[in-house]
Amino acid sequence: MRSGWRWCVIAGLAAAAAAACQRQPRSGLTFSGSALGPEAAVVQRQLTRFSEQHDGVPVELLVTPDAADQRHQLYVQRLNARSAAPDVLQLDVVWTAEFAGAGWLLPIGGRLPDPADFVAAARTAATWRGTLYAAPWFVDLGLLYYRTDLIDAAPASLDALAAAARTAQQSGATRSGLVWQGARYEGLTTVFLEHLGAFGGRILDDRGAVAVDEPAAVAALTFMRDAVAGGGFVPPSVLAWQEEQVRFAFQNGDAAFMRNWPYAFPRLQDSQQSSIAGRIAVAPFPPAAGGRPAAALGGAQLAVNAWSEHPELAMALVAFLTAPAQMLERAQLAGQLPARRAVYDDPRLAGALPVPAVDIRRILDDAIVRPVTPVYSELSEILQVQVHRALSGQTAPEAALRQAAADMRTLLARAGLQGPPAP
Ligand code: GLC
Repeated sequence: MRSGWRWCVIAGLAAAAAAACQRQPRSGLTFSGSALGPEAAVVQRQLTRFSEQHDGVPVELLVTPDAADQRHQLYVQRLNARSAAPDVLQLDVVWTAEFAGAGWLLPIGGRLPDPADFVAAARTAATWRGTLYAAPWFVDLGLLYYRTDLIDAAPASLDALAAAARTAQQSGATRSGLVWQGARYEGLTTVFLEHLGAFGGRILDDRGAVAVDEPAAVAALTFMRDAVAGGGFVPPSVLAWQEEQVRFAFQNGDAAFMRNWPYAFPRLQDSQQSSIAGRIAVAPFPPAAGGRPAAALGGAQLAVNAWSEHPELAMALVAFLTAPAQMLERAQLAGQLPARRAVYDDPRLAGALPVPAVDIRRILDDAIVRPVTPVYSELSEILQVQVHRALSGQTAPEAALRQAAADMRTLLARAGLQGPPAP
């Protein structure tokens, strides 16, 4: 609003202008979220529409770092300092419990139309101690992308994936078999979680006890390590890659398979930037024997800063951005999956999805939610360090996970969140 208010002052004393100025709210909102490529375009368009529907109140888009861990750090600094901006925050699904537990978010449930329609797993991630603190905005699912000109059908098991990836690499069709996010950051936790689920393992069990040193977890990490180790089908360079580097490698034709989120789909199908447009398909990440298809649930939620000076307006913005019409448009323009179930029944969604809506709903129903705990970021960091050490050959998988489990148990005990003692 700052600029609008200035305009009112300049407009002077003309009666009509004065009346218009009185209707103007005294200041605007700040919104923080991803603003890269198509995401910037869709968010800007929707913020403008919100503003038009609310007496022209300005909503400023604050651009924040795209890497999950860096954005987390920035938010923690701001909220800890009780900053009133941003009024509305885009949170990764794994941050809500931490921020709600710290008293940094306003409860949101009662203000949102039809909260029961949100995808259950995303609602779980947005809830802390029985109260909804954020509105699911879009959901992310870890997906397996593959080249239809090289691979006949989606692999049904991890062994089949490994065999097909090796064949593509050895035949020289692609430089690498499979690429995934292996840098030491949150994305690595999600990739590990998908392998863990594929082998039937978990980070914490149902009672909240650390389970990351169990045999299924060791088998999952050993599979990943062997895939990267000398002569494997995953290039060691992935150990420094996040989502975009992985996408670039795949769209340049360097790999037969890629693990990534849905946002990559429309970009890979765009022949202006992708050399493999029209030659890709998408499937769930396959299970190992005894495991289950496991996609990590990711995505973003919108929450209202507890120090906001405009909580009502901020709530209205969250309700607007998470309404079905905006979710549909976001899926169409940026390829991000709606967090409301009802939107999947809308035939206009079909063309925007990497796989049919019924399959997405099935993958969503099986999706693995990362632990909902206020100490999630620390837990994940412990895991990232040890998983990365194992992948780069510095520690054996079993020893790495033993250390991770010990550090996690210490952390949970210190935070008073300890589950039952280790077996
Ligand atoms: C995506 C997901 C998010 C995840 C992050 C990891 O942004 O939506 O949930 O934590 O990737 O890099």
